[in-house]
Amino acid sequence: MGEKPKLILCILLLITLAEMLAMIIVDIVFRHSSFCLRFALIDSLLLVIIICPFLYHWIIKKKREKDKVIKELQLLASAIEQSSETVVITGSDGDIVYINPAFERTTGFTKNEVIGKNPRILKSGKHEHEYFTELWRTISNGKVWRGRLINKKKDGSLYEDDTVIAPVKDKNGNIVNYVAVRRDITEKLNMENRLRQAHKMEAMGQLAGGVAHDFNNLLTLISGYNDLLAEELPPDSPLSRFVKEIKKASDSAAELTRKLLAFSRQQVLNQKILNLNEVITETMTMLGRLIGKNIQIETSLDPSLKIILADKGQLEQILMNLTINARDAMPEGGQLFISTKNTWLNNCELKKTELNAGPGEYTELSVKDTGTGMDKQTLALIFEPFFTTKEPGKGTGLGLSTVYGIVKQNNGCIQVDSEPGKGTTFRIYLPVSATKK
Ligand SMILES: Nc1ncnc2c1ncn2[C@@H]1O[C@H](COP(=O)(O)OP(=O)(O)OP(=O)(O)O)[C@@H](O)[C@H]1O
Ligand SMILES: [Mg+2]
Repeated sequence: MGEKPKLILCILLLITLAEMLAMIIVDIVFRHSSFCLRFALIDSLLLVIIICPFLYHWIIKKKREKDKVIKELQLLASAIEQSSETVVITGSDGDIVYINPAFERTTGFTKNEVIGKNPRILKSGKHEHEYFTELWRTISNGKVWRGRLINKKKDGSLYEDDTVIAPVKDKNGNIVNYVAVRRDITEKLNMENRLRQAHKMEAMGQLAGGVAHDFNNLLTLISGYNDLLAEELPPDSPLSRFVKEIKKASDSAAELTRKLLAFSRQQVLNQKILNLNEVITETMTMLGRLIGKNIQIETSLDPSLKIILADKGQLEQILMNLTINARDAMPEGGQLFISTKNTWLNNCELKKTELNAGPGEYTELSVKDTGTGMDKQTLALIFEPFFTTKEPGKGTGLGLSTVYGIVKQNNGCIQVDSEPGKGTTFRIYLPVSATKK
């Protein structure tokens, strides 16, 4: 039994006792008191005894109802507190009066930092002023607003959420609060983007592969007839010059088709059990020559590196393309770090990579430079064939597409970290081979 009903019962008991006492006193003091007075006293005593159980039941019922409401409120409160969706309640003036822990997790702001402030502290500047005017018009007219908002976290990074803002009204229909429920969909949008990008690359690969294939057949004919022509011409013929030019051009065209075929994963493979460290060591002399003297190369190769099943020529292609790109990003000189190690990629880490490889054991090849770095827009396009930021004639935009195709053909994945002015790191993950060397 709760404290209040106990107290009321005690009071009633005291009253009854007091009445009995009063009756005794009346009896003693007014020995000859009237029957009416005695009757009135007994009557009131009986009345109290009769009313008591009803009163008790009424009090208990009220208490139960109150307990039920409290329980429901507690349930609601803990649901909101534990919800993965962020909940923000503001007063009618728009100032925040409540946030749930999901809000703190998503935005990085603590309760103390936001209570009493306006939700515009999350403003990212990505929406027009009219967008918010419309939002306020809707909710202050008592309607529910649904939409997508790009917000800014405490650390300055942006996130996107699906938002529902509803006004809360009192008995008289006046708006007293606004409740905003928001679901962070940044990860979902990233996934969609990755999927769209993967489909786009797949379609490009098919197109590029098809063109490269037919083009290659024609090229074989051109260079074949060119070779015949060269044989037919007398050595001192003035036409030999033209034949040589045709040969040079068709060699360049063959190199181009080779890259396109690599991108579309149609290169003929010569896969062998390999140690990536050995391939790097053998290629180092050539890489050193490629980059020139103003760039220092440092290597850190894991001696316990596991073996992989790959085409040595393709690995050399990856190393060369990444090294040339790093060189081009460091025109004033810099440092190039090439390292290897064994690693385990789980689903979470794989989300940060290009290509859809499965979780498992990988060898990691990391090529890091101290060059110009790239902004987000450039980063989004680097693997697309023919994307280049280099001057015409300086780059075909097929280097990284080739790397992409090769890594995909080998069931690996790529991760790129780059920021303008802070250099670039390419990490290539190739699956460890189950076969022993
Ligand atoms: N290490 C890097 N640092 C800065 N930017 C890079 C780096 N690697 C690649 N890029 C950017 O990515 C673009 C595409 O690279 P990719 O290797 O595919 O083509 P390219 O180097 O321009 O031409 P190609 O390799 O065909 O001669 C480059 O033009 C450059 O803008
Ligand atoms: Mg390149």
